[in-house]
Amino acid sequence: MSRTPAYAAELRTALTRAVRGVSERDLARTTEALVSRYRSVAPASAPILASRVHVAAYAAYRMAATHAALSRILGELADRDLAPRSLLDLGGGTGAAAWAAAGAFDSLETITVLDQVEEALGLGRELVRDAASEVLAGATFARAVAGDWPQLEADLVTVSYVLSELDEAAQELLIADAMQRGRAVVVAEPGTPDGYARVLRVRSAMVAAGWTLLGPCPHASECPLVGRDWCHFAARVNRSAEHRRLKGAELSYEDEKFSWVAAARPSLVESPAGQPNSGRILRHPLKRKGFVEFQVCRPDGTAGREVVSKKAGERYRSARDAEWGDTLP
Ligand SMILES: C[S@@+](CC[C@H](N)C(=O)[O-])C[C@H]1O[C@@H](n2cnc3c(N)ncnc32)[C@H](O)[C@@H]1O
Repeated sequence: MSRTPAYAAELRTALTRAVRGVSERDLARTTEALVSRYRSVAPASAPILASRVHVAAYAAYRMAATHAALSRILGELADRDLAPRSLLDLGGGTGAAAWAAAGAFDSLETITVLDQVEEALGLGRELVRDAASEVLAGATFARAVAGDWPQLEADLVTVSYVLSELDEAAQELLIADAMQRGRAVVVAEPGTPDGYARVLRVRSAMVAAGWTLLGPCPHASECPLVGRDWCHFAARVNRSAEHRRLKGAELSYEDEKFSWVAAARPSLVESPAGQPNSGRILRHPLKRKGFVEFQVCRPDGTAGREVVSKKAGERYRSARDAEWGDTLP
């Protein structure tokens, strides 16, 4: 969790610059309203990011966190040799997934971010304007509404923190649209029980369509956590001074909890980025003297305790470095 995503510092600087013109009082008041709106699980009947101040508040208080979560997910897929050349980000807002993808994949050549809110897209464009990454600086931000996305195709489609704003029928349609357009699809949601429930429905749709799960699940059987826990992970976010002020927070960091699922079309299965073939670590590992204890989801579809002791040599050394959310060494 201490791994800092690529471009996190650059994004923070761009965010500070972009929200400079907005009064701190307005930002703080709007942030409060957004926090309580995002706590509610009711789908939105009108765009939540309704004005320039809403968009600035979202970017200032949420974007570093969604960027951190996406960076963790996409970084793992890159480590497992997923190498998309094109990214399509549906409901991409101010572009958190675009920043994360540019940081994770050297292979990326084009980025398209689509969203219903022009103000969010405008801020997204402003943020990437001076980006060091050429592909990020050249990203397209265009207006489109769910259910009426343009007929684009991409190696990777991301749907990041969007589903909670839609009713269940619209969520299903959005995922079908994403799967129609992408060779691989990544969906991220807040790491809450209801975020996990939405991710589970996406997972079922992916498995039913014969797609291969790329993560976090090491198997395509029923999730062993259903009814007793919820699958979620955490990404560390360093808070800027403005971020701390805005949230009235003391700590210099926060941990963003997220749930996710990623899958690839059957034709991609021969690519090296197949399903993870070792367990997924579901909690902070307990690092004791001479052994490390893990809670894991296993490739055989069960979940439970695994212990790696000092006797395991190299594997034990990897286990000492392993973190919540990693695959089991
Ligand atoms: C919580 S924000 C997430 C933004 C970004 N994906 C991220 O991870 O930071 C949800 C985004 O979904 C967009 N959205 C919600 N409903 C939409 C719809 N019906 N059509 C297009 N975009 C939509 C919103 O405008 C907003 O930008």
